Amino acid sequence: MAERVEVLLTEKEVDERIQAIGEQISKDYEGKEVHLICVLKGGAFFMCELAKRITVPVSMDFMSVSSYGSSTVSSGSIKIVKDLDDSIMGKHVLIVEDIVDTGRTLSHLMKLLKDRNPESLALCTLLDKPDRRVVQVPVDYTCFQIPDEFVVGYGLDYAQRYRNLPYIGVVKFD
Ligand code: IMP
Ligand code: MG
Repeated sequence: MAERVEVLLTEKEVDERIQAIGEQISKDYEGKEVHLICVLKGGAFFMCELAKRITVPVSMDFMSVSSYGSSTVSSGSIKIVKDLDDSIMGKHVLIVEDIVDTGRTLSHLMKLLKDRNPESLALCTLLDKPDRRVVQVPVDYTCFQIPDEFVVGYGLDYAQRYRNLPYIGVVKFD
């Protein structure tokens, strides 16, 4: 099937918004050190760009999770595929995600990380699809709210492709 990608948010729009969010985070965490946790693989591009724009001290760690069960299972659960390298106890943790969709993954992940006793726990996402939410999650920083469409680029994939696009696009099938 032929497929093409239509631009939804240009590289310039994304860069400008990440700059603004980076400045906001720098203000909010003034006098503190922020520990960024990247949810692989989708969050990787966003976290690197965001980290470069934060002016308070930053440390970083990476985690990979996959969901158990299918969408027909109401609550679902997550499996840790790659755990963090370091303890988060006493740290100001900021989870960096590519997209919040149903909210299932984040809701499980936040519970799991809260149990490890960070000093604070917040969530920053590049994209938010509020229309798709099934489980409520407190999102502290959102770059863009988008309509319910399947998007790629800036870390987001369709069958593992398109992560490297420097903009956000919608996949169209003709
Ligand atoms: P949630 O648990 O439903 O919020 O799932 C979030 C995960 O689904 C994200 O971290 C993405 O990996 C994936 N996902 C959701 N929507 C999209 C999309 O439009 N494009 C690419 N991946 C998506
Ligand atoms: Mg993801």
